[in-house]
Amino acid sequence: MGNDYIEASRVFHEITKHSYTSVRSSPHFLDWDIKPMPYKIYPGAASVALPRDLNLSATPTLSALSSYVPAGFSAPIETAALTRILFCAGGLTRHKQVGGEEYHFRAAASAGALYPIEIYVAAGAVEGLESGLYHFSPGDLRMTGLRRGDWRGSLADAAAKRSSILDARAVIALSAIYWRSEWKYRARAYRYCYWDAGTMLANLLAAAAAEEISADVITAFEDPALEALLGIDGEREGMVALVALGRSDGPSAPSPEIKPLTLETIPLSSREVAYPDVDRMHRESRLVTADEVARVAAAKLDSAPSSSSTGELRFETIASEDSTGLGETIIRRGSSRAFAQDAIGAEELATIMAASSEHPQADFPPLTDTYLIVNATDAMEPGAYYYNRQARAFEMLKAGNFRGEAGYLCLEQPLGMDCSALVVYMADLERTLRALGNRGYGDAHLEAGILGGRAYLAAYALGRGATGLTFYDDDTSKFFEPHAAGKSPLLMVALGIPRSRTKS
Ligand SMILES: Cc1cc2nc3c(=O)[nH]c(=O)nc-3n(C[C@H](O)[C@H](O)[C@H](O)COP(=O)(O)O)c2cc1C
Repeated sequence: MGNDYIEASRVFHEITKHSYTSVRSSPHFLDWDIKPMPYKIYPGAASVALPRDLNLSATPTLSALSSYVPAGFSAPIETAALTRILFCAGGLTRHKQVGGEEYHFRAAASAGALYPIEIYVAAGAVEGLESGLYHFSPGDLRMTGLRRGDWRGSLADAAAKRSSILDARAVIALSAIYWRSEWKYRARAYRYCYWDAGTMLANLLAAAAAEEISADVITAFEDPALEALLGIDGEREGMVALVALGRSDGPSAPSPEIKPLTLETIPLSSREVAYPDVDRMHRESRLVTADEVARVAAAKLDSAPSSSSTGELRFETIASEDSTGLGETIIRRGSSRAFAQDAIGAEELATIMAASSEHPQADFPPLTDTYLIVNATDAMEPGAYYYNRQARAFEMLKAGNFRGEAGYLCLEQPLGMDCSALVVYMADLERTLRALGNRGYGDAHLEAGILGGRAYLAAYALGRGATGLTFYDDDTSKFFEPHAAGKSPLLMVALGIPRSRTKS
């Protein structure tokens, strides 16, 4: 049992696959009476208001997506900059009535608009903000104070003493409240939580880069220590990732002793449905000792089998200055609900792929491979492609009009058929699990979410549309064989020219 017992991930992955038969033989009816509230509210706790004059970054989105801020960079972080980063990751951007329900849409895409990811902040050296542990409340742009003091030492202790955490100016912690997503997606929700955390991280990393603040993503940590610090149970709400922001010039103060947190929160629903497969999967992915954390943090992947290539196809990429400012892109972003069957430029597609493919600064290695079904571009033959993330080049796997297949593979949604290109993030899960244990299962999905979230931003920055999509697992693997032999799809993102749904 535990992280090395990788049969747990194999079984979980298998039983949460979608297929043509499974979606028909096991329909799910939503119980609207118990739809979970998308906000975590601490009614008795004091909170601080964050500045509302956000003044979001005008840095071209493509620059923010591709700039790398070295970890040694030590500019101060002001509360206003921290607020912009939090807003870009999880802030409220739009309200809309959909089918009689009021939806509050946020900065990053979230499957089903269920928003299972919570954001906590351990501020250590943020100008204008008392050191302490806070919970970010997107509904009213406030931070609830959970604990006073400097918690960077405790966070670093839980993460193999990673220096980026100890020296950070602030550390962001992302957790998942599984029930929010389980309500709609049942046990498969565990995957969706990591995708959603990934799209938030895509925005967060771009926003930090636009502020010239370094950001280091960490997923190898002792879960029990972080659960105790945040006051979460590790079962209904589990840890997903830490992000160390900036670098302070002074040492962090010794962290106080962690006492139990007794703040009450408002129940999300009058009743919750248990999904034991999710509980088990998360339990088996938790790291509980410092040794386990050190092993996972140092893990390397076996080298990937070399793939046969049909020759590389490269295109010019569009200049960063020709993309909209990051703040504007994030405010305008919203998933396209329908696409016109029109072509986008091959240069646009190459730009979106290049801007989204860089591996983030993280403690896990690149795990995700990118494949595409190209339906319509001005200079690429329609067909199935592999996109080489390192070489920034496309390799054609098979030529043909695969609009029908693309629509079918994403659970028979017209978005896949009508888009210009369907990006399919895939991973060799066996290789991932052998290196990282069950922890690698979440890492791979998180990485796919980050790449997919960046693809959204790059597409909107060029005036195009995007939407995340779910899929038929085994049929997708088969479609990309033999190149993708042994790989599993993790997430799809459709790119194209948005069309108003009322037009046809
Ligand atoms: C991982 C993921 C999977 C998604 N899957 C689908 C899907 O299968 N079909 C769909 O129409 N939208 C899908 N979406 C889009 C969400 O429904 C959308 O992000 C959510 O409603 C919030 O709206 P917004 O993106 O416009 O802010 C997905 C989004 C994500 C992040």
